[in-house]
Amino acid sequence: MISNAFSTYGLVAIPFVSVIIIMVVRALYPKPYPDIPHNKHSANRVAGDIPDLVPLITSTNEFSNSMFTITTQKLGTPIAQFLFPGIRKPLIILEDPREIEDLLLRRNKEFDKAPMALSIFQPMFPKASLAQFTTPELKAQKRLWADVMAAEFLNKATAPRIRKATLGLVELWRLRVSVSNDKPFAVHEDLQNTTLDGIWVSILGDEAGIIDYSIKKLRSEIDGSIPFDATPPRGGFLREEVRYISDTIARLSNTPSPKWAGKIETYTPRYRRFRSTVIREISLLMAAAIKRFQDLDVETLNSGDTDRCMLDLVLRRLVLQSRKINNAPLVDPTKDQNMLDELFIMLVGGHDSTANTLCWFVRFMEAYPAAQSELRTVLRAAFPGPEPPSAEAIIETNVPYLDAVVEEGFRLAGAAKGNLRQALVETSILGYHIPKGAEIFMNYHINRSPAPVDEAKRSDSSQAAAAKHGDGLRGRAGYDLDKFEPRRYLVKDPDTGKETFNSYAIPSLAFGGGYRGCTGRKLATLELRIFVTLLILNFEFTDLPEEMRSMAATEKIFRQPDMPFARVKVL
Ligand code: HEM
Ligand SMILES: *[C@@H]1O[C@H](CO)[C@@H](O)[C@H](O)[C@H]1NC(C)=O
Repeated sequence: MISNAFSTYGLVAIPFVSVIIIMVVRALYPKPYPDIPHNKHSANRVAGDIPDLVPLITSTNEFSNSMFTITTQKLGTPIAQFLFPGIRKPLIILEDPREIEDLLLRRNKEFDKAPMALSIFQPMFPKASLAQFTTPELKAQKRLWADVMAAEFLNKATAPRIRKATLGLVELWRLRVSVSNDKPFAVHEDLQNTTLDGIWVSILGDEAGIIDYSIKKLRSEIDGSIPFDATPPRGGFLREEVRYISDTIARLSNTPSPKWAGKIETYTPRYRRFRSTVIREISLLMAAAIKRFQDLDVETLNSGDTDRCMLDLVLRRLVLQSRKINNAPLVDPTKDQNMLDELFIMLVGGHDSTANTLCWFVRFMEAYPAAQSELRTVLRAAFPGPEPPSAEAIIETNVPYLDAVVEEGFRLAGAAKGNLRQALVETSILGYHIPKGAEIFMNYHINRSPAPVDEAKRSDSSQAAAAKHGDGLRGRAGYDLDKFEPRRYLVKDPDTGKETFNSYAIPSLAFGGGYRGCTGRKLATLELRIFVTLLILNFEFTDLPEEMRSMAATEKIFRQPDMPFARVKVL
């Protein structure tokens, strides 16, 4: 009887269990969005596109490009989707530069930052703009910082500091060349050290002294006056901290759940040491600035003549605000998490991105000697010397080919390969339905011709923009996008016959765009302009041995060249 009851129960249970199993397995299968192109074989397996992705990332070290390779590139379409196991919705992949630009610049009501992009920074820097949706709090924070990136402020307060840091690098490389016997040397760390010196002093007004220290150290090695006993620069340990954060963010973004990995990181002693060290240093600088401002009258405060760095400007605003509300007590900025988080992210994001772009620039100069010599010719004509040009001269002298080299450098470097947005409403892209909440991963690196698109499928605003400016990618400017060719941005003025720089020749995506585009774009452009000018006037980048000529990259937070070497001749 008992066995009978069991078997009857079993007979009923088997189909019931099977149904549950089938339901569970179904739930695990990817759930493609209807119509949007995807790999059919991936839709028929639980792991979706992941088995195709992993070996590619392992062999190329490039995460984002691997995503594009197995979706849009493989399918030959401007838009596709990447399939995850069914517990996670697919990721829409968009590779068409015009439609990306349109989405970023003109469709801010429909798209905001995506949770996947924010979650990398949220645990460690929850109040940085990179970690926030577009909320009123974020808007207030952006207003507070906006003026530090205004051209007038950058040119006055920041450019001379960047120039000084670059001249430090010139001096260091002269020394390196003097001992290198015409052999190539590694440039990445020098460029990181220089850009960190540059951004540190621009933001905080305090000399980090990193390159100076490297110069002294190398000089003493050359003189043979070893042991070298100069105290390491204050910037040295800050460099350690900033590197720790860069490396950690890169590592977290490659884990299955950056958010959890990041939360765990915030409990480690290393993270705590980072926070306490950097807060201590920054607090000292903030306290000194505030003390200076508190003694000033409102008129002087308003004028801003005393600002030496970005932090000065922001703190002065806060002091003014508190004066205006009847001397309301100033919120202690050293306890203000929005302020601290934004500062950290600017220090980290603002030097590594530029250093990587400069590494690529050095590679391009070697690989494209004709462009290098054309650039040097126009720079020598614009800045005959013998003294290196002032920051003001570098900014104000009109050198269209220099503008073009800077723009082309950002484009082809592709330091920030891509980024994400999320649909806030039901909408469409290139004629495909996009459900509310869908996340879109966009390629910001324009280095190949886009797949063909039916113009009628584009958004109205995208069509209107092309009617006004034309579709540059289909014209001369869009040729050979895998090559470094600054001339794509130059046009002849029909009246004067003179060449001018056309920044709209093709879409520009290196900094993303729109309200949530890169805050530091103007600063980065200024930095590159100063670096490029001073490096090309002082050095010639000559050809590297075959094995160092690779353009292969590794993507961490930013894409960096695998062979960041230069062989340099002092001019
Ligand atoms: C070569 C240099 C740089 C590149 C290629 C770069 C690229 C980018 C990109 C692609 C984004 C995302 C934008 C989007 O999704 O639309 C971004 C955001 C950001 N960048 Fe940069 N960046 C550079 C330099 C800098 C510098 C120098 C700073 C500051 C000092 C900076 C501060 C920021 C900040 C604060 C954000 C977040 C903006 C927001 O979420 O609203 N960047 N950057
Ligand atoms: C960069 O600066 C740090 C800190 O001073 C130093 O330890 C490191 O050796 C420097 N890198 C190079 C290549 O000089």
